Amino acid sequence: MDESRTDQKTYDSDMHFIIYLQQKGFSVILSDMCPLVSGITSRDAALSVELGMRALDLAVGMSTAVNNAPLQAELDSSGLALDTGRLLKPGGHLIIKLLESEDIKEFNQICKPLFRKASWLRPKATRSCSREIYLICQGLL
Ligand SMILES: C[S@@+](CC[C@H](N)C(=O)[O-])C[C@H]1O[C@@H](n2cnc3c(N)ncnc32)[C@H](O)[C@@H]1O
Repeated sequence: MDESRTDQKTYDSDMHFIIYLQQKGFSVILSDMCPLVSGITSRDAALSVELGMRALDLAVGMSTAVNNAPLQAELDSSGLALDTGRLLKPGGHLIIKLLESEDIKEFNQICKPLFRKASWLRPKATRSCSREIYLICQGLL
């Protein structure tokens, strides 16, 4: 088969899958993304924030994260906001792993108005030398 047709078919099926996921929505989204740790604390923290923001955007929609306000989008019958690209259902939960730094405070400011509850968790099992911490956001408004 012609390579360009194969690419187009793959693209079409990826787009169908993305639209399907967006329409269905998720009850829980967990981001375990983490950059390859370089040992340069500020660099690793900045990359971790970048990945966390990407997860937040996917979950609640770019405009919501940027505007720092509950979603004012048109909702479909299941309550999903198709035009903003948010993948989390209303009432859904979001968990994001981050590397601790001053910059992660920004996540609290963004998430607090969007969720019923947003809090930080450092599991007891986390090694003492690790800077990993989890943002737990419950109940998307
Ligand atoms: C701690 S591991 C997660 C392991 C995963 N929970 C599993 O069980 O396979 C961190 C992951 O973040 C991913 N990652 C790092 N940078 C990324 C990026 N820019 N986009 C997507 N994933 C990324 C890595 O590929 C790696 O698999």
